[in-house]
Amino acid sequence: MKTTTGYSGAQIALHWLIAGGVLFNYIVSSGMGRALHQRLEGAEISVPIAGLHVWIGAAVLALVVLRIGLRLLRGGPAVEKGALGKAASAVHGLLYLLMLAVPVSGAAAWFGGVEAAGDPHGMLANLLVLLAGAHALAALFHHYVMKDGVLRRMLRPA
Ligand code: HEM
Ligand code: HEM
Repeated sequence: MKTTTGYSGAQIALHWLIAGGVLFNYIVSSGMGRALHQRLEGAEISVPIAGLHVWIGAAVLALVVLRIGLRLLRGGPAVEKGALGKAASAVHGLLYLLMLAVPVSGAAAWFGGVEAAGDPHGMLANLLVLLAGAHALAALFHHYVMKDGVLRRMLRPA
């Protein structure tokens, strides 16, 4: 993949839009299990946030696909050498996988009627938010302790 001096404005915008969408949907998710049952039974859905959860989630999926396409086409900054760089790459790879798997499993349950996808969807969402939290702490550690330019890379376009 191409190595660049930093991320483009579009890559940065996508990073923060997706992070916002994931966090929003994580917070606005209670009652979704009930909404799914009602939908599968053809009953009226009594969970007001259900539509919001589904459509914000679908928008996140579209943005993630766009983001991965852009990452493959345009590339990104070089990975640090050594164990820390390897750990960062592994976490980023896993974050990309989860950013796809969470909305896809949600859509399989909601649009595909695959009830069995509901529980894994919730569990994968927990894992995504946990890993993103650790990732955010690492970014803050870079900024305040290591005082390198890593956080700034995701704030200012190269
Ligand atoms: C960024 C994306 C998403 C996140 C972070 C997320 C997060 C969550 C969480 C945490 C739950 C568990 C709620 C609970 O047990 O109280 C949940 C449930 C659910 N979500 Fe999502 N979701 C996302 C996208 C989607 C999408 C795109 C859809 C559908 C198109 C969807 C449909 C559902 C359904 C049907 C449930 C109920 C599953 C069940 O309990 O069987 N979600 N979501
Ligand atoms: C749901 C929330 C988040 C997700 C899913 C996420 C995901 C990712 C991914 C996959 C990358 C790798 C980009 C690439 O090179 O292709 C990345 C980079 C980055 N993220 Fe996040 N992120 C989230 C939240 C945050 C937060 C809250 C912060 C800051 C406090 C942050 C700071 C950064 C920084 C500084 C980079 C650049 C790292 C580098 O250039 O090596 N992220 N993020």
